[in-house]
Amino acid sequence: MINMYSDIIEIAKRRGIFWPSFSIYGGFSGFYDYGPLGTLLKDNIIKIWKESYLNDDAVFVDTPNLTPEPVFKASGHIARFSDMAAECKNCKSKFKFETILVYNNVNKMPKNIDEAVELAKEFKLKCPVCDSLIDNVYNFNLMFKTENNDLYLRPETAQGIFVNFKLLYNYNRNKLPLIGGQIGKGFRNEIAPRQSLIRLKEFNQCEIEAFFDPDNLYFKDLYEYKKINLKPNDGNEYYITVKEAAERDIISNKAFAYFVLKTQYILENIGMNNERLRFRQHSPDERAHYAADSWDAEALIDNDWFEIVGIANRTDFDLKTHDENSNESMKIKIDNREIIPYVIEPSYGIDRIILALLSQSYYERNNKFKVLKLNYNIAPYHIAVFPLMRKDELKAQALKLYNAMKKVDKYIYYDETGSIGKRYARQDEIGTPYCITVDYRTMEDNTVTVRYRDTMEQRRMEIDEILSENGFKNL
Ligand code: GLY
Repeated sequence: MINMYSDIIEIAKRRGIFWPSFSIYGGFSGFYDYGPLGTLLKDNIIKIWKESYLNDDAVFVDTPNLTPEPVFKASGHIARFSDMAAECKNCKSKFKFETILVYNNVNKMPKNIDEAVELAKEFKLKCPVCDSLIDNVYNFNLMFKTENNDLYLRPETAQGIFVNFKLLYNYNRNKLPLIGGQIGKGFRNEIAPRQSLIRLKEFNQCEIEAFFDPDNLYFKDLYEYKKINLKPNDGNEYYITVKEAAERDIISNKAFAYFVLKTQYILENIGMNNERLRFRQHSPDERAHYAADSWDAEALIDNDWFEIVGIANRTDFDLKTHDENSNESMKIKIDNREIIPYVIEPSYGIDRIILALLSQSYYERNNKFKVLKLNYNIAPYHIAVFPLMRKDELKAQALKLYNAMKKVDKYIYYDETGSIGKRYARQDEIGTPYCITVDYRTMEDNTVTVRYRDTMEQRRMEIDEILSENGFKNL
């Protein structure tokens, strides 16, 4: 059996998708760089996300990463955005408390730090590294702060939207629903960063805060789409459409259901396999401090499910607290009612989405050659152009085609190094859907060989048939 995860990490580093940051200084866990291919892949995913929400008339902001203390005092992050942690007094290793429980086979989850301290005593919990007794259990705030504690690196982009609610509402001609969005970095001082892009200290978020009149929690009609695995927190499981789930009150809030459906649609559009995706509702103990309900889109990566999008019903929690603590009223008037809007938040973790897409699109051919079956929309390069051999006349012809194609689409790659088989293999490994080879016949009849990544089929086509002003539709 292949170890997909380590294979992907290896390809990602060797081919320039992502790699550990600062490796020349030994590497620091929780930080990853995107390389030349990874930045293209990431930008493609974000573009699809953004355009999809522009379809819903979203308005976007770009607000600072460093945020003054009063914002996070009001939002509850200073008091409540923490993980339960444990430190081994003997070897000084630090862990999330959950990790200690798993290592010690204790199947209980404490609700607060006092219960965690009790559990440590009761079960004589041991350190996973040196097996000494764990006796230091504490709450660990996940935010990074500046030395004099007056600025924090934001743990979510969301607050940048909430604090601007009034300006955005005016911009939106005082209309609800208002769909606000932000693309940016979030920062969390994770106790135990792990599994490359899964748990990073600095990560890429795409967040939507959708503001509603609490008396009119409706956005758009739900459409029929594919069935999907749904796991509400009552222990049942369903394989039904999101529309049906809303009709049967499995997802009771219709506006919320719209964003679950939209998330399923966007994820599938960027290439996520519907059968390796599910939506799981949080249990009440699992929810963030601001959420009245949450469902995670989870993707199967190797054999584990990981959250890639969190969809939360934040109610009026954030606007209310900014209303109470800031100089701005967050109340608005609709007809004769004064209200504070309710918020539904679909929050996309782009790094995890990238890892899930890579893992779901990776396979090995019988000859052990590796392939990333990336969807055309997100592949770093759409087409690679090669001369069959490094002969001047073939190179000139291939470069002419490459330059003509670049005028239509920038995501075209040129390669003349190594055997043609090696060049195909290189492109398969980075997910390029098509390769085009120029040979001597090209100069006679203007045809080229088009080679398809997924079938390895080769087809002779006329250049004029391939090149059109709107892209390469005939491929
Ligand atoms: N804004 C939600 C989150 O960062 O998890």
